[in-house]
Amino acid sequence: MKIQIIIDRRMVQVDDGTTVLNAARKAGIVIPTLCHHEALKPYGSCRLCMVEIVQNKRHRLVTSCTFPAGAGMEVFTETSRVKELRKKVVELLLARCPDDLLIQTMARHMGIESSRFRNKENKECILCGLCVRFCEEVVGANAIGLSNRGVECEVTTPFKASSDTCIGCGSCSYICPTGCIEMVEDKETPGMRKMNIGNLFFETCPNDYKCKDCNIDQQFIEETKNVIARFRNKFSNFAD
Ligand code: SF4
Ligand code: SF4
Ligand code: FES
Repeated sequence: MKIQIIIDRRMVQVDDGTTVLNAARKAGIVIPTLCHHEALKPYGSCRLCMVEIVQNKRHRLVTSCTFPAGAGMEVFTETSRVKELRKKVVELLLARCPDDLLIQTMARHMGIESSRFRNKENKECILCGLCVRFCEEVVGANAIGLSNRGVECEVTTPFKASSDTCIGCGSCSYICPTGCIEMVEDKETPGMRKMNIGNLFFETCPNDYKCKDCNIDQQFIEETKNVIARFRNKFSNFAD
């Protein structure tokens, strides 16, 4: 069923259940996002995509990447409340990751010169969770997760140990918007690759787990490769 909503005074017709973000994109209206990716389930954690909606005469701030468009809804993407909230999100990220180019660029676009929040530690990871969700939802390996809270929050493997479920596909590194996951050559063991997330290094297999003693399921590896290939063909542009 089709419904009509108004976004920034423009009438948009979308399928019932479409998120406000996708409805806006259909109308060519840009809403900034960080944790959203069209190949993954809506997550709603970064709060950058907030918009103001009016429904039944009630004004509300919602995350557009998770909120479904409803018939008769009116959406405003650039109100002063929305802009103030987005600025706060970027300032908090700037305090966490002052050297990150993506966050610096966003801050510049929003006219932010410095963060009003105190910089406790210079991190690279903006905690968008894209790598973790890609590894879980697309690769199916569940090799990494977000652990700890607040400023200590980080992406890591369980117990920060070498992962026996990571297949070394590099997808997490590929999707990371800040480039803080690297697949690097292991200089001590030629042919081996290591994955570098922050201070964590662990080895991944250069032989696609094909040695005869390997207990990794080959069918799983092949299926995962197919999923990644299909994903790459469908979404060749990762810029969100
Ligand atoms: S390289 Fe490992 S951690 Fe990264 S997406 Fe692939 S399986 Fe997951
Ligand atoms: S490592 Fe990269 S993709 Fe993963 S949560 Fe951090 S910024 Fe996002
Ligand atoms: S893009 Fe919507 S909450 Fe992150």
